[in-house]
Amino acid sequence: MNVTTAITERRAEKMFDPCFTISDDQVTQLMEKAILSPTAFNLQNWRIVQVKDPALRQKIREVAWNQDKVTDASLLLVLCADLNAWAKEPARYWAGAPQMYQDMLIPAIDAYYRDKPQVQRDEAMRSSGLIAMSIMLLAQEQGWHSCPMDGFDFDAVGALINLPADHVVCLMVAVGKRTDESFARVGKLPLDEVYFVNTL
Ligand SMILES: Cc1cc2nc3c(=O)[nH]c(=O)nc-3n(C[C@H](O)[C@H](O)[C@H](O)COP(=O)(O)O)c2cc1C
Repeated sequence: MNVTTAITERRAEKMFDPCFTISDDQVTQLMEKAILSPTAFNLQNWRIVQVKDPALRQKIREVAWNQDKVTDASLLLVLCADLNAWAKEPARYWAGAPQMYQDMLIPAIDAYYRDKPQVQRDEAMRSSGLIAMSIMLLAQEQGWHSCPMDGFDFDAVGALINLPADHVVCLMVAVGKRTDESFARVGKLPLDEVYFVNTL
């Protein structure tokens, strides 16, 4: 499947086959590719939790608008991020790069994020959004389906997965096999309402 087809055919699916399974090896292969997604300063600040425990899935569903896919999809991924990834041995993010880049970028990481909670949080959301899309397109390539989700109580989900204090929950992604064909895409805005050249 090429990228255009994956993008065109991906839909936010509502109902998933609870009997369809994705093996641990398949998940590992998918995630190994997904983590090639870009992050600012190569921070790789995403921290992704696959919730396997059915009882925990049920508890998450209860704080996620009772969405069926939380329990029924083959995979439930909670995409979190470490707000302090920038401070945790940042030299490793550039290990092996030409010395000139290491000398420039490692101090720049500190200057960019230190004492800037809004920037740290923005970066968490940017990184998670990008890897979420990679996960969904990789799933599509496998013939699976997906749904991104923010219809849930973030604090409650964080508590259920033991979220560390310096991490945030960004979104969830369900992956599996849909049970029904999606209805046609609706409400798409015309391109000239969302795409501009030079200025808004
Ligand atoms: C960040 C984000 C959160 C979303 N949350 C939910 C959700 O909680 N439940 C749901 O069914 N769909 C959710 N969606 C799916 C959107 O409603 C869907 O992407 C949009 O209507 C366009 O449909 P399409 O993705 O099939 O083209 C979410 C999408 C995004 C990007």
